[in-house]
Amino acid sequence: MILIQFTGLSGSGKTTLAQNVQHLLIENGYKAEIVDGDVYRKTICKDLGFSKEDRCENVRRLFNVARNFVAEDTITLMSVINPYESLRNELRTHEFVRTVFLDCSINNLIKRDPKGLYKKALLPEDDLNRIKNFTGISDVFETPAKADLVLKTDLETVSFSTNKLYDFIIDNLKEEV
Ligand code: PPS
Ligand code: MG
Repeated sequence: MILIQFTGLSGSGKTTLAQNVQHLLIENGYKAEIVDGDVYRKTICKDLGFSKEDRCENVRRLFNVARNFVAEDTITLMSVINPYESLRNELRTHEFVRTVFLDCSINNLIKRDPKGLYKKALLPEDDLNRIKNFTGISDVFETPAKADLVLKTDLETVSFSTNKLYDFIIDNLKEEV
């Protein structure tokens, strides 16, 4: 079974693609689960913020949740920003992990900004409403050097990216047999 570790900036499409692909997989008879950063940050990762240490702890905890799903023969989509190359590389040493980079230009994300987070991150430093340590604006995102799949979510349509990811997963399952 496989675990997709997404990596990509806020708003790059991680949650949307994970949900679309989960639906497609289930429709086609597979078991599929999503482990989403935003969701788990309200429960088992509630104590964590956005320092490097906390982000790494967050990704490690979610990986542990995800690998339990994998052990139950479930295709697992881990939709987190996952900004650090060394931690991503550590996870991909597990043979069931594939890295999928959602590549979207920062200008496009600032324009889209569905949650209004970029707007808040870009506020002047002395504004109390400013979000600090915002990935891609005031905090690091290390571009993956060798992702297994890159989806250009600012150039491709959602359905194109969804189908590409679905096909990638099915091809990888075939390789397992
Ligand atoms: S990480 O870096 O992998 O631990 O992040 P993750 O668990 O995926 O959480 C990202 C979601 O948290 C919200 N948010 C922030 N993101 C980035 N930087 C800062 N400072 C921040 N503050 C809050 C945001 O809704 C992210 O969700 P997505 O789905 O990525 O937009
Ligand atoms: Mg999301």
